[in-house]
Amino acid sequence: MALRNIRQMGDEVLEKKCREIKEITPRILELIEDMKETMYDANGVGLAAPQVGVLKRLVVIDIGEGPLVLINPRLMETSGTQTGEEACLSLPGKSGVVTRPMHVKIEAWNEKMERIELEGEELLARAFCHEIEHLDGHMFVEKVEGELHDVVYEEDEE
Ligand code: NI
Repeated sequence: MALRNIRQMGDEVLEKKCREIKEITPRILELIEDMKETMYDANGVGLAAPQVGVLKRLVVIDIGEGPLVLINPRLMETSGTQTGEEACLSLPGKSGVVTRPMHVKIEAWNEKMERIELEGEELLARAFCHEIEHLDGHMFVEKVEGELHDVVYEEDEE
């Protein structure tokens, strides 16, 4: 496993539409492990393949309940709304207010290429929407209400 370089906003790889994954290869499995490691190293709750320069429809998410690997994910249903702070590993130190659905149902494929359906609300619903949009070349900043602002990080208590 290895950490991958996280591409920053302005890199054109973040503005491209990603291709579907047709089969699981050793290279894809390595990418999945690297993306998880990179996400945890950066203290993120989600990471999409284009953020590490790979134009494939692959996302990893962990909102603190264990890692989710989503291949070719797609929104199926959304309901409700939530308005709150959102940030992205491709724009470190900044956040902004974005309105998202409160409940989201998605379909995706797992690392064995089995179709799965997942439902999320609150932070998980937000993460599903945010990460899936990366796969179509979109950043959350397009949806920010008002101004982006600086994030004040709390001191690590170690
Ligand atoms: Ni992001």
